[in-house]
Amino acid sequence: MTTLTSLSSKAVTILGAGTQGRRLAFMWTRLGRPVYLIDQNNEQLSRAWTDIQSLRSSKEFEYISKDFDSWGSVSLTPASSSDFKKALRDSWLVVESVPEKLDLKRKVLEQLSEASSPESIIASNSSSYSISEILQGLKVKNNERFVSLHSYWPPETPAIEIMGSEQTKPEIIDLLMEETRKHGFQPFHVRRQSTGYIYNRIWAAIKREALFVVQEGVATPKEVDDIFKNVLKTPSGPFQLMDVVGLDVVLDIENHYAEDRAGIPEEPRVLLKDMIAEKKLGVKTGRGFYEY
Ligand SMILES: NC(=O)c1ccc[n+]([C@@H]2O[C@H](COP(=O)([O-])OP(=O)(O)OC[C@H]3O[C@@H](n4cnc5c(N)ncnc54)[C@H](O)[C@@H]3O)[C@@H](O)[C@H]2O)c1
Repeated sequence: MTTLTSLSSKAVTILGAGTQGRRLAFMWTRLGRPVYLIDQNNEQLSRAWTDIQSLRSSKEFEYISKDFDSWGSVSLTPASSSDFKKALRDSWLVVESVPEKLDLKRKVLEQLSEASSPESIIASNSSSYSISEILQGLKVKNNERFVSLHSYWPPETPAIEIMGSEQTKPEIIDLLMEETRKHGFQPFHVRRQSTGYIYNRIWAAIKREALFVVQEGVATPKEVDDIFKNVLKTPSGPFQLMDVVGLDVVLDIENHYAEDRAGIPEEPRVLLKDMIAEKKLGVKTGRGFYEY
């Protein structure tokens, strides 16, 4: 681990070329360094390439590429190909961005731990599971190199939260703070073990209390959204945003907080469960707190 900084001139591997993986590939090629984008689904890889090209040519995101000569290469690599191993050998940083299923994340981290070079940093982009939770009970090589690296919606929302486990080497946090910043992210260090990241926790409290207000009959979802937007001068209210995310996902996240911490009120989850029982999941089912 003594040569961490020199390692960072190497490639970055991103596992999962979905909504997030392709955006991460765009960001990590900002300084001309190579990225390997891996997926088990070839269609996802070709869609990812189309999206990366359109992000690169967007006027809105010119700030990401200004002052640099050329983008790094993106090697679109099927997970079944032997190039996957080469990618892992060549990379200083490997980021998993596969779907938010704990078993899958655990399996993938075990595979990455086996196949990557022992110095590579292995990061998870999970939105709700900390690296400590994912690694619990797993046998991985060099557990001091694993870290949570949770992005928002780059390049539009370049915030990224970095959280180690109790074993993570402090130099890794320092290096990631520096490298993410250089690559156009705005990094934040989550200084202690936390269920939920900095912003997610605050947002969870807003969702919870907004649901409570409606569950008690104090106001309607629209009234809550209207007053929220009026006071905070923000374009969307909590119920509009929950409808976009999906109420099933909102409930999963809230259950996760409730499992971890005493004193989380039941009523907001009751309201969510009632809505879900009526198939009102939000935008994806055409009905939620609003009609679509
Ligand atoms: N979507 C968001 O706005 C968002 C924001 C922050 C964090 N995240 C987190 O990022 C991660 C990915 O989310 P997403 O929205 O990009 O998901 P997604 O479903 O869009 O993409 C996941 C990709 O992983 C691929 N995949 C699945 N198993 C694989 C395997 N074993 N090997 C290689 N590829 C595999 C799938 O084919 C798919 O292309 C999740 O942990 C999520 O919580 C998502």
